[in-house]
Amino acid sequence: MSINADYLVKFRKSSKLYKKSCKFFPNGVSHDIRNYLPFPVVTERCDGIYMYDVDGNKIIDLWMGHYANILGHGNSAQIKGLKKAANAGIHHGTLNRYQIEFAELVQSAVPEMEHMRICTSGTEATMYVTRVARAYTGRQVLVKAEGGWHGGNSVLSTGVVPPFEKEKHSIEGQLTVSVPYNDIEKTAETLNTYKNDIAAIIIEPMLGAGGGITASDGYLKLLREFCDKNGSLLIFDEVITGFRFRYGSIWPMLGVCPDMFTFGKASAGGMHIGIYGGRKDVMKTITKKKLFVGGGTYSCNPVSMCVGIETLKKLKSADYLSLNKAGDDFRGFLSDAVRGLPFPAYVTGFGSFFCVHFTDGYYGKITPAVIMKAGLKEREDLFKAAMLLNNVFTMHSGGAFSFKHLKTKTIESLKEAYTASFKLLT
Ligand SMILES: Cc1ncc(COP(=O)(O)O)c(C=O)c1O
Repeated sequence: MSINADYLVKFRKSSKLYKKSCKFFPNGVSHDIRNYLPFPVVTERCDGIYMYDVDGNKIIDLWMGHYANILGHGNSAQIKGLKKAANAGIHHGTLNRYQIEFAELVQSAVPEMEHMRICTSGTEATMYVTRVARAYTGRQVLVKAEGGWHGGNSVLSTGVVPPFEKEKHSIEGQLTVSVPYNDIEKTAETLNTYKNDIAAIIIEPMLGAGGGITASDGYLKLLREFCDKNGSLLIFDEVITGFRFRYGSIWPMLGVCPDMFTFGKASAGGMHIGIYGGRKDVMKTITKKKLFVGGGTYSCNPVSMCVGIETLKKLKSADYLSLNKAGDDFRGFLSDAVRGLPFPAYVTGFGSFFCVHFTDGYYGKITPAVIMKAGLKEREDLFKAAMLLNNVFTMHSGGAFSFKHLKTKTIESLKEAYTASFKLLT
């Protein structure tokens, strides 16, 4: 039997429900990453490291709610926070005490967040922070990386997939320019072309959707030096990296500190969150220029704040070294496993985050342009289906460990699933 035929048998009810879902939603989903071939598995509930689907399958989750559930699905911080919020009233629409407590925790973890604002998604956070940057500098051009994903806001959803647009004007006529990640020469050339028009460079210190590729030291230094010399702002989009590799920003691990940050996902452990902020003098522009950056009916809602508070309290004493080491070891296993395959495959990632790309390469050669090449997605989809047949849910053929994944038995099951799935593809 082929992978797809077996898949149809194993996920029969999902197939039916997906067909029904297509009646309501374009592509059957409300977030395109949740749609994959031959059809997405429909979940019933999630708990710990597992998702349980409508066909009764128990699947190890490596996606963990877009990497947000770093303490596991339904963990005690979530439950405690939800109970607290249920008592407090789930949506105040006022300045509430929980947002102050949450902000205090965020600032103690990232002292460079001198001032911040909280919203309900990473998309909003990156939209607002770039709006602040444009107002602060009085300049219009934003620079982002090819393959960089900063959410669906219209100023930044350009240059995300090949062929990467070099430049894109928003409806208002403002310009966003994309540069090749880690390509020092080409990026420097583009930066020098727009030079004094650049308001900000917004960059993920590790490309998430772009393939688990970390920025090189030299690359971040180039961006920092350019911003210092030219009065532009350096923004780290840490919606994935924040609170994932250590308690706070990734920057101390990389040695380059940005002016501004965005956080999301793990920072509120699975609740709706977006945080942006950084230098107080920059954030003061909000008051000085009366910027519209504080919309959001649900911003700072007690549900997100209370779960966020409980999550950060737990993360403060969490064993990030073991989490990162588990990822390092697993990437080691994967790199060995792909070496003998009859098709090319290459492993990327950092700390607890890992991807497998079905192309050959070495670090430096692996770029979003290479890994998103036409045709490669088909093998990724087939591999995802093979992994699901082996009861593991992957993203970019990998995922990110939560603290709940760090059991020998879990890691062994994952290794077996990868070995069996690679075999299915040969
Ligand atoms: C780096 C990065 N920035 C921003 C976003 C957007 O966040 P959200 O999906 O919460 O709007 C994402 C989402 O995947 C992301 O990975």
